[in-house]
Amino acid sequence: MSPFQLTRTLPEDATGAALSEDVLQGLTSTPKVLPPKWFYDARGSELFEEITRLPEYYPTRAEREILIARAPAIAAATGARTLVELGSGSSEKTRHLLDALPGLRSYLPVDVSESALTGAAEALLRERPALQVHALIADFTQELILPDTPGPRLVAFLGGTIGNLLPPERALFLRSVRTLLRPGDALLLGTDLVKDEEVLVRAYDDARGVTAEFNKNVLNVLARELDADVDPADFDHVALWDREREWIEMRLRARSALTVKIPALNLVVAFEEGEELRTEVSAKFRREGVAAELAGAGMELSRWWTDERGRFALSLATVAS
Ligand code: SAH
Ligand code: AVI
Repeated sequence: MSPFQLTRTLPEDATGAALSEDVLQGLTSTPKVLPPKWFYDARGSELFEEITRLPEYYPTRAEREILIARAPAIAAATGARTLVELGSGSSEKTRHLLDALPGLRSYLPVDVSESALTGAAEALLRERPALQVHALIADFTQELILPDTPGPRLVAFLGGTIGNLLPPERALFLRSVRTLLRPGDALLLGTDLVKDEEVLVRAYDDARGVTAEFNKNVLNVLARELDADVDPADFDHVALWDREREWIEMRLRARSALTVKIPALNLVVAFEEGEELRTEVSAKFRREGVAAELAGAGMELSRWWTDERGRFALSLATVAS
């Protein structure tokens, strides 16, 4: 068998249909919203990688620190032979896990970004020719059908991407992850933690404007995929901390009154001057909240590790007994 397989679990036209539905719904609601998964075309995936290297964006470095320190403990606790990674992106940090899991046979990265998946798999296979990599182009918020690979299975969801789901979406998502686990399998979950507002806002509004470009990239996706006549320069990047809900919100604020025409959807969207479109939430967590959400989905928090400065956490969860 070839060491690399790429499977598209979404029908060919699924991206277009799902984008049209999200745009139609999101841009006709008040306030206007778009789901964050549409950031990640090839350019968006590149911009995210650039964000991970910014001095202000601490989550990637903090999570890498935990992975380096705890990979042996994760390997001992799980004995994983299959590693499934949801929202795997470049799989950059995953290398620390791959190196630490002696019995690992299969790596199944799952992502909506085909360019991120193929780039990551090419690099991994150059370094580890014996590893079986089966990449899945799939939306992790939909039901996932995984290939039959040897257990135990470790499902990793790193980077704090769970924070990009709204609370009801998180509950549904965690329940569907639970269905992927059999007794002896585990979930490794990365969560960014609540901290000082200034540190949080700087991480999402960096001095070089890379996050602003990432945020505006969703408008390029609309222009290319739906022929929307929208100019990213007509919008300002906004990042703010919602103290009550304990999440960062990214928005795009119209610099003047304008309309966006999307003929493919028979839609003309009017923005008032200063009107905002919410493009992402990035929730920050506390240990009790993570344990409660896992328990609500039938899982048990068995280990909790943070980086030295307590900025980010990795949780290991198993099927509740
Ligand atoms: N795990 C990596 C990448 C995080 S960026 C890290 O920790 O650095 C978030 C990744 O999730 C992107 O690669 C994006 O394409 C993917 N993604 C976002 N929403 C998704 C969805 N609904 N289904 C599958 N992948 C998704
Ligand atoms: C992928 N996800 C966890 C990132 C985050 O921090 O919420 C996406 C991101 N948005 C702006 N910067 C990075």
